[in-house]
Amino acid sequence: MDIRNHYSLKGNNTFGMDVVADCYIEYDTRPELLQIIRMAGHGQLPKPLLHIGAGSNILFTQDFHGTVLRSKIKGIDRVDKAALLKVGAGEKWEDVCDFCAREGIWGIENLSIIPGEVGGAVAQNIGAYGVEIKDVIQSVEAYSLTTGEKKIFTNNECKFGYRTSVFNTQYSDWAIITATLDLSYNPKPNIEYGELKNVIAKYHHRKPEQVDIRYVTQMDIREAILEIRGAKLPDPKNLGNAGSFFKNPYVEKNVYEAIAKDFPDAPHYPQPDGREKLSAAWLIDKCGWKGAVHKGAKCYDKQPLVIVNTGNAKATDIMELAREIQVSVYNRFGVNLKPEVKYV
Ligand code: EPU
Repeated sequence: MDIRNHYSLKGNNTFGMDVVADCYIEYDTRPELLQIIRMAGHGQLPKPLLHIGAGSNILFTQDFHGTVLRSKIKGIDRVDKAALLKVGAGEKWEDVCDFCAREGIWGIENLSIIPGEVGGAVAQNIGAYGVEIKDVIQSVEAYSLTTGEKKIFTNNECKFGYRTSVFNTQYSDWAIITATLDLSYNPKPNIEYGELKNVIAKYHHRKPEQVDIRYVTQMDIREAILEIRGAKLPDPKNLGNAGSFFKNPYVEKNVYEAIAKDFPDAPHYPQPDGREKLSAAWLIDKCGWKGAVHKGAKCYDKQPLVIVNTGNAKATDIMELAREIQVSVYNRFGVNLKPEVKYV
């Protein structure tokens, strides 16, 4: 276990915010986590406790007065002969995707190349190209940060929603230890997401509607996602960012209809409950924000849903730009954009 006091979190968040935590602890085992919980219970660690993963969906807005925890619990283990995999919270998500592709295990190939670790991926129910991690989660093992109680959450008990779960409420009481993924050795290519299908069609020298799904491999899917993401999303190693800054909004039908009067081509996805899901990127783009710079923050040219740190951005630069974008989208379209990124 590695305990640091007065620790800079710059290397622990992909926005690259240079904030200081009173205390920062990395732990490698369950007993170490239990020891941390006991210490916190006895007032030997600054509170509150904040559990992070790779910090790829967090904006630290100020120094953190409390203890930041990070799991280094690893492991990608077969539970039995079937494709049930138990993966450690501190495992890099992409390493799990890579393992599955090499072993011919299907189910998470559409979630390839998403930054972050297993714990964070589960907590925020990552999703891309028509798949969410909740689709393959059988159960999640977690410890209460107040009592040390261990609980196995069934998929239902995780209460997964769009980028939400019981694990990513502000100062959630639960530290994820492992997640058990219910995957499959049977090929199950899902290329319904338009852009994914188009790129794979190109690889197969076919028109999108002519792609023969039987010949679509995991490598095709991973390659295509690498191409699509590479063209749109900035690499946090070069430009600090946390992926999509806002969630795609769900609106009442009349809100969409008002937009469609002026923009019949506005992307929209009808929902079973009668509402419409809109594209935040499209709304932001239509308000003219692409490439806009505010102090050290910038609305990314290739995907306006992403806000980047151009080098020395302060958290306030990013928050101010986000606020201005929200106000302008609201004034123009009457739609409230909510941050996907968690402010701490
Ligand atoms: N668009 C524009 N202008 C642009 C870019 C996009 O109008 O410059 C519109 C287009 O209509 C496009 C639509 O936005 O069809 C959707 O764009 P994209 O396919 O990139 O998806 P997204 O809805 O913007 C979501 C997730 C991403 C995920 C992709 C792919 C959210 C908040 N974001 O983005 O997740 O990778 O779909 O499935 O749900 C993340 O959560 O950090 C993330 C990157």
